Amino acid sequence: MEELKIRDTFLNYCLPDITMTECNEVLETLKSGWLAKGPRTMEFEKQFAEYVGAKYAVGMNSCTAALHIALVTAGIGSGDEVITTPMTFAASANTIIHTGGIPVFADIDLQTGCIDVDEIRKKITSRTKAIVPVHYGGQACDLDSIYKIADEYGLFVSEDAAHAIYTKYKNRMIGSQAKGAVSFSFYATKNLSTGEGGMLVTDDEKIAEKARVLVTHGMSRNAWNRYTKGGTWKYDIEEAGYKYNMFDLQAALGLKQLERLSQMQDRREQIAKIYNEAFSKLEGIELLKTMPYTTTHAWHLYIIKIDPNKTSIDRDQFIIELNKRNIGTSVHFIPVHLMKIYREKFGYQEGGFPNTEEFFKGIISLPLYSKMADEDVQYVIKSVYDVVKKPR
Ligand SMILES: Cc1ncc(COP(=O)(O)O)c(C=O)c1O
Repeated sequence: MEELKIRDTFLNYCLPDITMTECNEVLETLKSGWLAKGPRTMEFEKQFAEYVGAKYAVGMNSCTAALHIALVTAGIGSGDEVITTPMTFAASANTIIHTGGIPVFADIDLQTGCIDVDEIRKKITSRTKAIVPVHYGGQACDLDSIYKIADEYGLFVSEDAAHAIYTKYKNRMIGSQAKGAVSFSFYATKNLSTGEGGMLVTDDEKIAEKARVLVTHGMSRNAWNRYTKGGTWKYDIEEAGYKYNMFDLQAALGLKQLERLSQMQDRREQIAKIYNEAFSKLEGIELLKTMPYTTTHAWHLYIIKIDPNKTSIDRDQFIIELNKRNIGTSVHFIPVHLMKIYREKFGYQEGGFPNTEEFFKGIISLPLYSKMADEDVQYVIKSVYDVVKKPR
């Protein structure tokens, strides 16, 4: 194999794809005199709902806020058990704690990294009230099986779709036909970014109405209804709500990102295909399986698994080696059950979720974003080969 020439510049693990279109819209918003939640937020909510095929969408300042509000609207409270995956970001589980509920983890399927439906069944008790499945990396969870369990036991489903803007389950968009709630993230690293931001979508009018009130302190009227002509200064506080609403500067970015989403996704898909082709032939590297029900993968993350039995290098050292070759990477995720608060408050320990722990030991998220140049993609491939093949 030809010697790898290490590039001079660092290849970021992730970069947002922002063009002058987004910049101009933000500038127009700044000049408009209305920065808070107003017309652009309402327009973005409308367009996002249409895009994913949901009846209602409520803009939030993060996906974390949306996940929390979803559980609050479902009445989750003290002592209620909510089942989720340990292979996720803390937000999916922390928000259960915020409601007073108890996070109960169900192990994952080793092939996909998504929650294992049979494990969900094993964790159901008389106190179980909801399930929070996570569409890991942009691959869909097995939704039909999850909703079947939910119907059987009368459980609320709050889908964590932070990675799944553009994902399709059996040819329908994640976010469509949401009986419970589906929460998306527009964080800086996400496929569609507003810097920070999120959206809750649902087909249930009651959930949407409650969420709308809860995101602005539980106020019966938001600022747009109060400060514009014909508005009234009077309002009531219907519930002790939160300050979770999206605002127009975020929505300005969101509206223009949504216009460009298919184009950005085409590039992600293209890169994922090139990676798949290259790495499927490389001994020592395992790829995640895309299940047939994920008819469109959002490719939020591109994950490789290092097989320590077939390479002379472990995951941590692999990351160091890629870093030496000027490549940024990440690990999604450190299992949540191993975090301090989960161990100390809920008694979780190492060994509790064998699949999740085994999976965690091997995974690396490689750079994948729409702004990557062809040379960047080829450089990542060559570097991964170089690390695997280097004699040690
Ligand atoms: C699986 C998952 N859920 C929830 C979140 C929280 O999203 P946000 O940062 O928009 O609150 C993230 C963020 O990275 C995530 O990866």
